[in-house]
Amino acid sequence: MTSKIASTPTRICCIGAGYVGGPTMAMIAKQCPDILVHVVDLNQSRIDQWNSSELPVYEPGLQEVVEEARGRNLTFSTDVEGAIRDANIIFIAVNTPTKAFGIGAGRAANLEFIEKCARKIAECSTGHKVVVEKSTLPVRTAEAVKRILKSAANGATFDVLSNPEFLAEGTAVQDLLQPDRVLIGGESAAAVEQLVAVYGRWIPRDKILTTNLWSSELSKLTANAFLAQRVSSINAISALCEATGADVDEVAKAIGTDSRIGPKFLKASVGFGGSCFQKDILNLVYLCEHFGLNEVAKYWEQVVVMNDYQKKRFSARIVRTMFHTVSDKKIAIWGFAFKKDTNDTRESAAIHICRDLLEERARLTIYDPRVPESQVRSELEGIFKDALGVVSERHKQLIRDHVTVVPDAYSAAENAHAIAVLTEWDEFKKLDMERVFQGMHRPAFLFDGRNIMDACRLSEMGFEVHSIGRPSYHGNA
Ligand code: NAD
Ligand code: UDX
Repeated sequence: MTSKIASTPTRICCIGAGYVGGPTMAMIAKQCPDILVHVVDLNQSRIDQWNSSELPVYEPGLQEVVEEARGRNLTFSTDVEGAIRDANIIFIAVNTPTKAFGIGAGRAANLEFIEKCARKIAECSTGHKVVVEKSTLPVRTAEAVKRILKSAANGATFDVLSNPEFLAEGTAVQDLLQPDRVLIGGESAAAVEQLVAVYGRWIPRDKILTTNLWSSELSKLTANAFLAQRVSSINAISALCEATGADVDEVAKAIGTDSRIGPKFLKASVGFGGSCFQKDILNLVYLCEHFGLNEVAKYWEQVVVMNDYQKKRFSARIVRTMFHTVSDKKIAIWGFAFKKDTNDTRESAAIHICRDLLEERARLTIYDPRVPESQVRSELEGIFKDALGVVSERHKQLIRDHVTVVPDAYSAAENAHAIAVLTEWDEFKKLDMERVFQGMHRPAFLFDGRNIMDACRLSEMGFEVHSIGRPSYHGNA
């Protein structure tokens, strides 16, 4: 690959208008008013939403960022070819889900969408372009991208960079505004410098790390594996706390004050969710197996195994505590998103807990402040799909008859036998719990999968409270 950096002004195209492409490009456009940023996607309705006041991604502060730049130097459209032709820097931010079929099914990343983008770029480009991998990819994917780009029909030349994204959902705007670091991997110093110059508009130079391509690709998978490992580690300890009477929040505080361990990412929970952690660890596991590193693969796989255990443990505890049966009992589900401040439900622990409770024939009344009913139902159908992707009539009927989605937390808990807090939305901490308690059956069980409720105060009101890794409080009423 040659490095022929254009002297023309920077014009950016981003393929993929999802949770990463939309916010990252909106931030670049906001911070660099002279750079034209064109975000494209095949999904017309997603693009329509980006062009409306109802963005497809809920993130605190994002609406303002988009509105500042949209129509000035930020465009959303489905004109993939036109955007590629006009740009000199092309980001690829398409989805890289776990492969659901064929070799590596259930572990390897499905790189179909990445390859299609590379082929489209090769087909439409002229002159010289910098292609940036923004999606999370297995190590050495850039090699394949470069080979595809080499086949460009009209003599176009390319530099390929890796620039993985570290934003977390719910805090994306802040993470993009003041990232801990920006990582850029590449072979061509000139191309790396061109991208450094974009981020350098608002990010201090010492926070922009440059590495070789493979280190950059691997760092992203490694960062997610380490973060998820911390959650699984504290969740493993939460099980021991429940068995021994220790309090996991106290343990987390005690170990987190050790500056070598640090306090972040030690919140015990019902299990991690989201589109990244599980997918990226399984991808890492697959890569290790591919290179014959079976012990390394097993080590990382255990992070996912522990997470599955934590989810199962929580639903089993609900059933056990409620006299070994939840059949025909009404359980309020507070929160369905995989964490607070997002409308994203991909791999949310709530989906698994609801599935287990539905299998036990519980009646679920679900409330989430940002997740619409259609999305709840589609996620629940998804979890009941068999190997061929089919949902049986029995499961469809179970969802139809046993799931109600309601517009607020109070109506969810009305006449309920139990409440399960599955997402740590701030509003759950501010509810009038006396009112909630009055509307419930006795004993009024509350299962706090996020340790956000004041268990001591609630037990004084009469609730029987079961949290993660903490002693249970039996109500006084
Ligand atoms: P997403 O599913 O929200 O968005 C991807 C978009 O790409 C979709 O809108 C899809 O229609 C579009 N797309 C797919 N193929 C296309 C093609 N050939 N042409 C045009 N558009 C196409 O995914 P996401 O959450 O934004 O994640 C994107 C990548 O970023 C993934 O690799 C993910 O692992 C990584 N990542 C995600 C996060 C996160 O918080 N979601 C954070 C860091 C990294
Ligand atoms: C993660 C990474 O943090 C981010 O850097 C990467 O770019 C994408 O993947 P995200 O999945 O959006 O971000 O959210 P994150 O805050 O990491 O939370 C992931 C899951 O772990 C959530 O379900 C969250 O509730 C859970 N979690 C997190 C815990 O249970 N306990 C914790 O202490 C932290």
